[in-house]
Amino acid sequence: MNVINKVGIDKISFYAPKSYIDMVELAHARDVDPGKYTIGIGQDRMAQPAIEEDIVAMAANAAYQILEEDDKNSIDQIIFATESGFDYSKSAGIYLHELLNIQPNAKAYEIKQACYSGTAALMLACDYVRLRPDRKVLVVTSDISRYGLNTGGEPTQGAGAVAFTVAQNPAVLAIDLESVSVTRNEFDFWRPDHHAYPVVEGKFSTELYLTLFIETIDKYAELYPERLVELQALVFHTPFTRMGKKALQAYLEKEETALDPQLKNELLDRWLEIYDNSILVNRQVGNIYTGSLYLSLISLLVHGESLKVGDKLGLFSYGSGAVAEFFTGELQAGFKVVVNKKSVYELLDRRRKISIEDYEALFDDVLPRQETYHIPAEKIDFPGFYLAGVDGYRRQYGYKPAE
Ligand code: HMG
Repeated sequence: MNVINKVGIDKISFYAPKSYIDMVELAHARDVDPGKYTIGIGQDRMAQPAIEEDIVAMAANAAYQILEEDDKNSIDQIIFATESGFDYSKSAGIYLHELLNIQPNAKAYEIKQACYSGTAALMLACDYVRLRPDRKVLVVTSDISRYGLNTGGEPTQGAGAVAFTVAQNPAVLAIDLESVSVTRNEFDFWRPDHHAYPVVEGKFSTELYLTLFIETIDKYAELYPERLVELQALVFHTPFTRMGKKALQAYLEKEETALDPQLKNELLDRWLEIYDNSILVNRQVGNIYTGSLYLSLISLLVHGESLKVGDKLGLFSYGSGAVAEFFTGELQAGFKVVVNKKSVYELLDRRRKISIEDYEALFDDVLPRQETYHIPAEKIDFPGFYLAGVDGYRRQYGYKPAE
């Protein structure tokens, strides 16, 4: 059997909802010092989706930008990673299959493990393509992060989607086979049946994230020391942008690791220096759960001026509950063309700022639990795919062309 090694992310794009709030304004409204949100948590803006921007509409808008006819004919699987699913049986991927006009013999399904599932999808996709090098897989991550108004988690909300195709000889990032993952049955963040919002042990969740980061990177250091020293930058799952920096600092301070202390200091200096480039886009959007790590990757690729083809990156994926994986990839020849700063900022800059009052109204404007409901046409004021409503409990979608 011929197994192809150079497989990974070929094209990648994202969608952020049309509305956002300013975190300083949220801090004033919640009677909190703004420094807590902008410095302590590290967020400038937070995306708030409208009712018509459900996970399918956001995913379709992210994927639509990168798919050409050749991709649509070569995609064998659509893997939809989300923890905001709206149906226990039917996969959100099926709607995408139709909206994006993917070839009829592709299969579509949804997967879940909190914020980790985007990485599970990437790994499944890579293995599939390694065995069938002329085929492709579309991975979409799409989520709405909701903790509730006036809650501790409120400043770490957000929403958005990242889509990428996985192919042989990828243009952006070839994914290496070697990785370290860990599963631990813990309750740091979970959403039981009938809960509108997750149950969160906020402080414990950040501690567990740090513990599993140190555990996976240090095991990687023990197994593949020569690979670890090659990494030019690390990219993190980013529930809020201080989190990755906390992880780097925790590893720096950790005594007795698999790395020689001086080498560890040198590596951490390198990774801390470039870290801010990987969170600039996330600062504008907030937590997008499954897609968050891949939004950080986009941010690093467009802001990491020193990065060049052939450089190696380390990626840390974390999903509460908990599963984590530390893996690596190599930058490929097209990474600066496929992911460019201009288009990323066009997507961010076309959004509009809303007041805290409007945000609270939008937050409460959820799809009524009715058999049939049509979203008023005047709400559809942004180009792209949108949820039009439900008809006999069947979600219906539309597409509004740009003017
Ligand atoms: P909190 O208790 O409101 O905040 O919870 P805090 O008091 O810990 O303050 C946050 C930071 O701001 C602290 O810094 C303060 O010192 C600082 P730190 O001690 O951590 O370095 N601070 C200030 N800094 C500057 N100027 C000031 C100021 N005031 C305070 N004036 C928490 C914060 C993140 C816990 C909360 O928002 C929360 O519960 N969020 C949701 C859970 C979460 O995001 N957990 C992250 C890890 S779990 C994960 O990543 C998985 C997840 O994505 C879900 C999934 O997998 O599906 C969430």
